[in-house]
Amino acid sequence: MSNRPFSFQISETDEIPLRCDNHITRHLSDMRGQFLDQRAYDAIHSKDDVLLYEVYEIKLPEVEGELQHGISVVHPGKVGCEYFMTKGHFHKVLNTAEVYYCLHGEGVMVMETPEGDWSVEEMHPGAVVYVPPRWGHRSVNTNLHSNLVMFFVYPANAGHDYISIEQQGFRKLIVDREGRYEIIDNPNWISPDMR
Ligand code: F6R
Ligand code: ZN
Repeated sequence: MSNRPFSFQISETDEIPLRCDNHITRHLSDMRGQFLDQRAYDAIHSKDDVLLYEVYEIKLPEVEGELQHGISVVHPGKVGCEYFMTKGHFHKVLNTAEVYYCLHGEGVMVMETPEGDWSVEEMHPGAVVYVPPRWGHRSVNTNLHSNLVMFFVYPANAGHDYISIEQQGFRKLIVDREGRYEIIDNPNWISPDMR
């Protein structure tokens, strides 16, 4: 069943949207094996299953024609020299795009095609990133003092393929080098011809 038209308010701060009926939380334990420094991961995890990021959505039917949208909040922090980040995914319907609009904080969107082409786009308040069809994507918070808050919208029937990224990783990692972010090769990335 479809919704009646509606509107809601979001602000350029890290406030939680007033209208939300689906709150997704992802903790360190949901990201096992995704950070490069396993020792640093274990050290933090042994003390606390830290909350890395949250997604606030309005429940919509996951069917063609609907546009899923909401707010993602990536908290500040690092595991080793890698910043807190989202798991990242391809859309199950690979040929679906997504738009992100940054409301608050600083970060980057790491993107990659199944063939191994890659791109990193900077996010800051007012920045829009277009994630084209077929591009996997992950948000990384590069500011260690504030949340990275973004509005996103994508076709509601897109679905999420997390397994590919869990298995092969992203080609590029975002690390902190003396207070600035740097893009490095992921030594554990499995290239398309080795899969
Ligand atoms: C939806 C989308 C975002 C992410 C959110 C959390 O297609 O890209 O809403 O779902 O940034 O990241 P993941 O889904 O990778 O845990
Ligand atoms: Zn997506």
